[in-house]
Amino acid sequence: MAKKIFSGVQPTGNLHLGNYIGAIKNFVDLQNKKDNQCIFCVVDLHAITVRQDPKELKNNIRETTAAFLASGIEPEKSIIFNQSLVPAHSEGSWILGCVARMGWLNRMTQFKEKAGKDKEKASIGLYIYPVLMAADILLYDATHVPVGEDQKQHLELSRDIAQKFNLDFKSPNFFQTPEPLIQKNFARIMSLKDGKKKMSKSDPSDLSRINLKDTKDEIVNKIKKAKTDNEDMPTDESKLNNRPEIENLLSIYSSLSNQNIKNTIEQFSNKNFSEFKAQLADIVVEIISPISEEIKRLEKDTQFIDDILLNGSQKAEKIAKLKVEKLKKIVGF
Ligand code: AMP
Ligand code: TRP
Repeated sequence: MAKKIFSGVQPTGNLHLGNYIGAIKNFVDLQNKKDNQCIFCVVDLHAITVRQDPKELKNNIRETTAAFLASGIEPEKSIIFNQSLVPAHSEGSWILGCVARMGWLNRMTQFKEKAGKDKEKASIGLYIYPVLMAADILLYDATHVPVGEDQKQHLELSRDIAQKFNLDFKSPNFFQTPEPLIQKNFARIMSLKDGKKKMSKSDPSDLSRINLKDTKDEIVNKIKKAKTDNEDMPTDESKLNNRPEIENLLSIYSSLSNQNIKNTIEQFSNKNFSEFKAQLADIVVEIISPISEEIKRLEKDTQFIDDILLNGSQKAEKIAKLKVEKLKKIVGF
C-alpha cells in the first residue's frame, strides 16, 4: 500500500551515527520504495525550544539538509524543507494546542529529561514541543512516521490529538492517525562510552559518538577506544545479557551491513575483540566517510542548499496550507 511518510530532524548540530541508523538510513529506504510519498523536514522551530546561537542555527539548518542529501534523500523524489518556511506549522500547532490536554503533556518523558531539575526555567516551547510535532505530521495526512525509539511517546500523543480533534469536532477521519515506523533492532544506538546511555548530540564527550562529519582517523580512533568488557566475543544472542556495550557495537555492524544480529554474532564468534573492532571500523568508514565528505562539499554551496529548501517549502506549503484552511473552517473561523 502507498504510504505517506513524514519525519523531521532537528538542526542542532553534531548529527551522529544514531541519527543515521535510527532515522536517516530508514528515510532513504522508504523513499526508494515504489509509491511512497515522502516528506523530510528540518525542524528548526523545534530547535529553538532550547537556546540557539542564530548564526550557528543557520549553519546547522544547512548542515542537516546537506546530511539528508549526502545520505541519499533526493529532492526529485522527496520533499525536503525547513519548518519555519511554512507558517502553517505554527498556525496548526496553536489550534492543536487547544485540543491537547495538560495531563497528556505532563507525561512526556523527553520534556522531563530536557528540562532537568529546574522545570520552572524551561521554555514554554519545550513543553508544547510535542504539539508542534503533531501539527507537522497531521497537516500532511502522514500515515507513517519513521523515528527512533525515543520519539514513540510523542507519536502516541499525535495520535491522541488527532482522535480527540476528530471526536470533539465531529469530523471523523479529518486527521489520520499516524503509525510510527520504528526499527525493531536498531532503534536505539548507544553511546560508545556507556552502553546504557543513548548516543546523543549533547553528550559532552565527543568520544561517545561518531559524528557524520568525522574523518576516517577519528572514526577508527573512536571505535578503538569504544568501551568493551573482559569477556570473549559472544557465541549466541543469549550471551548478550548485561553486555550493553558489546550488543551496541554488534548492532551497529549489523545495521550497516544489512544483516541481523544473529548473523553478525556467528560471523565473529571465534574472533577476538580487536579483529571485530577493526572490521567494524572498516564498515563504518566505508558507509560514513563518503557521506561525511559529501556533507562538507555541499555545505560550501549555501545557495544550492537554500534553493533546495525554498523549492521544497513551496511544495510543502501547498499541502499544509490547504489542510490548515480546512482546519480553521471546522473550528469556526
Ligand atoms: P533529533 O536529532 O533529536 O531530531 O533526532 C532525529 C532522529 O534521530 C529521530 O528520529 C530520533 O529518534 C533519532 N535518534 C536520535 N538519537 C538516536 C539514537 N541514539 N539511536 C537511534 N535513533 C536516534
Ligand atoms: N521530535 C523529533 C526529534 O527530536 C523531531 C520531529 C519534529 C519529528 N517533528 C517531527 C519527527 C515529525 C517525526 C515527525 O527527533
